[in-house]
Amino acid sequence: MNGPAAQDAPATAPHPEPAYFSAANLHAYYGESYIVQGVSFNVHEGDIVALLGRNGAGKTSTLRTIARMDNPQLKQGEIWLDHQPLHQMQSWQAARQGVGLVPEDRRIIPGLTVEENLTLSQIAPPVGWSIERIYEHFPRLAERARQEAVTLSGGEQQMLAIARILARDIKLLLLDEPYEGLAPVIVHEIERILEGVKDLGITTVIVEQNAIAALHLANRAIILDMGQVVFEGLAKDVLDNADIRQEYLAV
Ligand SMILES: Nc1ncnc2c1ncn2[C@@H]1O[C@H](COP(=O)(O)OP(=O)(O)OP(=O)(O)O)[C@@H](O)[C@H]1O
Ligand SMILES: [Mg+2]
Repeated sequence: MNGPAAQDAPATAPHPEPAYFSAANLHAYYGESYIVQGVSFNVHEGDIVALLGRNGAGKTSTLRTIARMDNPQLKQGEIWLDHQPLHQMQSWQAARQGVGLVPEDRRIIPGLTVEENLTLSQIAPPVGWSIERIYEHFPRLAERARQEAVTLSGGEQQMLAIARILARDIKLLLLDEPYEGLAPVIVHEIERILEGVKDLGITTVIVEQNAIAALHLANRAIILDMGQVVFEGLAKDVLDNADIRQEYLAV
């Protein structure tokens, strides 16, 4: 019954495999202020992506949009993580689907001990790393388990903020300026922790003013300027390109 042309035609149109994570044409606003202006990028599972750009470029706003915070408000665009439509979710639903945002102010609870901060993250499912496993990866936190979080150094507080997220079962770790205010030796310690997170298959997007450090950690880079993506590619290509670094990163 089928003619030759019909026999040659595929039964269904080929279906492109969606990226593990994709932000597609995101437009987000604080009230009337139009801030995230058509941001699109794709991320492979297990990548570490450096999300860079000058002050006010829209980095924090982009992370908050992905984590489905109320502000800025996403008015257009799609966000997919492992086949799940984050753009249709509220922040708590996105968190359940595996989005973990460590905000710039770290959001740990100062009056609770290190261990209480960690166990608090595990009250609601899905639970991620066990406390024992966290202590293996963060020996400094093991040493300080019974200390109030307020007594920790800045670097230890950042480690606790990351560990709290890993205590939940996450797929996508979003870090906003994790190295801010930290001594280089502590930055190296956090880099080693993040490499360990990558080895476990968790995908990371890191926003950093310390662009060089972030580019050495990351395999891919995205540069934002005035709420738009102006570069997407390999981190080493940004390290090798002084023009891009000077124009958008001032380093
Ligand atoms: N809550 C808010 N209400 C209104 N405008 C905001 C709000 N937060 C940020 N903005 C504006 O959105 C723009 C992008 O800010 P955002 O914080 O996303 O930039 P950033 O790239 O993270 O900058 P930085 O490197 O300084 O952290 C800026 O012009 C900023 O003034
Ligand atoms: Mg910011």
